[in-house]
Amino acid sequence: MFYIFIVMKIGDVKISGRVILAPLSGLTDSTFRLICRKMGAAIVSSEMICAEGIVKENTRTLRYLFFDRREKPIAVQIYGDSPGIMAEAAKMLERFSPSFIDINFGCPASKVVKKGAGSAILRDLVKMEKVARAVVENSSLPVTAKIRSGWCKNNIIAVDASIMLEDCGIAAISIHPRTSKTEYSEPSDWSIIKDVKMAVKIPVIGNGDITGPVEAEKMFKETECDFIMVGRASIGNPWIFKRINYYLNEGVLFPEPSFEEKLEICLEHIRDAIKNNGEFYSTSYLKKHIQFYLKGIRGNHEIIKEIIGLYSAKEIELKIKNLLTKNKLLDSYD
Ligand SMILES: Cc1cc2nc3c(=O)[nH]c(=O)nc-3n(C[C@H](O)[C@H](O)[C@H](O)COP(=O)(O)O)c2cc1C
Repeated sequence: MFYIFIVMKIGDVKISGRVILAPLSGLTDSTFRLICRKMGAAIVSSEMICAEGIVKENTRTLRYLFFDRREKPIAVQIYGDSPGIMAEAAKMLERFSPSFIDINFGCPASKVVKKGAGSAILRDLVKMEKVARAVVENSSLPVTAKIRSGWCKNNIIAVDASIMLEDCGIAAISIHPRTSKTEYSEPSDWSIIKDVKMAVKIPVIGNGDITGPVEAEKMFKETECDFIMVGRASIGNPWIFKRINYYLNEGVLFPEPSFEEKLEICLEHIRDAIKNNGEFYSTSYLKKHIQFYLKGIRGNHEIIKEIIGLYSAKEIELKIKNLLTKNKLLDSYD
């Protein structure tokens, strides 16, 4: 048992809980993050945000910075290849007062790598150091970094990078132990999380392939990391945080929510998204999330197809409401 409610600190921020929501571009917006916090995520994170867009006050970029105070502690994640621009972005972020600034040193997407940012920086530790120092020196907030194990299998630098980042004043390191070139079909290599944990004194956040409470405990045991971070498994499944917390504390599995409970949470997600972002911006975003809520449900392929064909978030809401009503009616005949 892990006694996960022992309060720990990242920088000067107190954290109760040991399970963190990973940044997921296009998915971990304010609405979803708040649901995850209510479900027991100890920290949530924005998706990666372009530092240059922040500095240029690009309207679309600034939308990603929005968060609800109730989400705190929250990390705002930025990426970029220029130490100067990253420093400027860090200064500007103070106005929004997130709990942390997180630097993305792991994104393998070609649009990011082509600009020399994200995981491209794993090939150049001198540049990584300049970027990290620039952000730390220009922010009064704790600065964390999210890295991968290296650029490719012949370039595993996670331990060297972590030692250097700690020396720069980075407050915690998240490690997703795949290289920039490794596909998700290959498992992440948790031994690298352990190597990083043994090499530094700052908190280490282990990430990669946690699908439920049992794997969560396994990662803590195998790597001795301080926190774990859950990404894909939280989509359509935000109650995973509650279930992991319960398992770590009590040693027994908390049951999965019923179909009806899942649809209720899904409806809350839809309503909050519409309230926060309006119908227009919510429609395609909700389609991405809803498919995951319906995973494993009988006839889900047909329902998902119908939802994909809908034109508005309100229509999606109605579809899920009808599903819920139909399910309640069926239950009353049991
Ligand atoms: C759709 C998607 C979007 C992602 N977006 C980001 C991002 O914006 N920033 C980041 O650091 N990592 C991002 N990641 C990586 C995740 O944060 C995480 O490191 C990875 O998925 C491994 O964790 P998991 O096995 O729990 O999903 C993304 C991953 C996925 C699948």
